[in-house]
Amino acid sequence: MNSNFCIVTLIKLTWLTTVIALQNCSNPNYFYSDNLKKMKRFEVPKHAVPWHVPFPKYQPPEFTSQHLPSEPYADPDIHNPSFKPKWNSVDGPTDRTSYEQSYRILNGYPLNPRGRTGIKGRGVLPRWGPNHAAESIVTRWKRGEKDSTMNLSSGKPVLQVVVIRRHGCSEWTLPGGLIEINSDELITLQKQLLEEALNLEFDLPPEVVVRYQEKIGAAFVNKTLIYRGYVENPRNTDNAWIESTVFHVHDEEYISVATLPLPLEEESDRPMWRDVDFSLPLFPGYYELVKKIASNMKAHW
Ligand SMILES: *[C@@H]1O[C@H](CO)[C@@H](O)[C@H](O)[C@H]1NC(C)=O
Ligand SMILES: *[C@@H]1O[C@H](CO)[C@@H](O)[C@H](O)[C@H]1NC(C)=O
Ligand SMILES: *[C@@H]1O[C@H](CO)[C@@H](O)[C@H](O)[C@H]1NC(C)=O
Repeated sequence: MNSNFCIVTLIKLTWLTTVIALQNCSNPNYFYSDNLKKMKRFEVPKHAVPWHVPFPKYQPPEFTSQHLPSEPYADPDIHNPSFKPKWNSVDGPTDRTSYEQSYRILNGYPLNPRGRTGIKGRGVLPRWGPNHAAESIVTRWKRGEKDSTMNLSSGKPVLQVVVIRRHGCSEWTLPGGLIEINSDELITLQKQLLEEALNLEFDLPPEVVVRYQEKIGAAFVNKTLIYRGYVENPRNTDNAWIESTVFHVHDEEYISVATLPLPLEEESDRPMWRDVDFSLPLFPGYYELVKKIASNMKAHW
């Protein structure tokens, strides 16, 4: 694989991708991409998470990634006088509404609707307030060599899900990325899935690319919306957070996404099929969604 292409694609895909690539996800520190530095979150006891609970000692460090204000896809500095965001509304090309509730503004800063996170500022996210994302849970049934798809201990068929392990990250993510209001989230998702899948097979002839595109498009005909709202994420801060729309796409008969040439083994920065069970190392919110899908489909967990 051509590694330059890989880097270009990652950056083009979205921010989410580049940022995750540089993050250690199971850590009380907030990592950021500028030279892989880290910042310790202010410790917030559970009871003091909601904003309405007084917590006078609360002095979180402030962090906004240095390269953000100059990026076209990102908001300017919050103190920039020309920046006049319309909070809790659709603001030109940017959707600043929350799926949760309307969020509060304190001293000019939008407040995370779920409470204190131990870090102030925008962190590595491009938008102040909600950052909207779309992600997909892509599944197929496992097919073994002797066409037994059962797990012997549970006696249930095994699902497989497409996950991506980001470089240096001990947790895995789903295919997807941040979306802008004018982009059709489904088209964005399909495009991203295709690009990430093609990352593996860079030298594919155009007719093969078109074939994959058709397969992905066909799979999304049977999509199910399974979640829309706030997602717990190590990049969330007191003033910027991710809200996602998550679709489930299942290919029962190996006619669409199930046939994408993704590897089975763990290889960093690549989408792959992984057997679904309780040990799936996804962020808590996504973990629960896949668990629910497995349960609904009477699959092994
Ligand atoms: C059955 O499932 C358990 C738990 O997910 C797993 O540890 C085990 O390896 C599986 N067995 C087979 C034969 O796949
Ligand atoms: C991520 O953080 C954990 C917990 O601090 C640490 O044990 C692990 O080695 C780190 N991994 C990487 C890749 O930095
Ligand atoms: C979509 O769902 C229908 C009905 O369950 C099924 O017949 C069809 O094969 C599915 N299409 C794909 C691409 O999975």
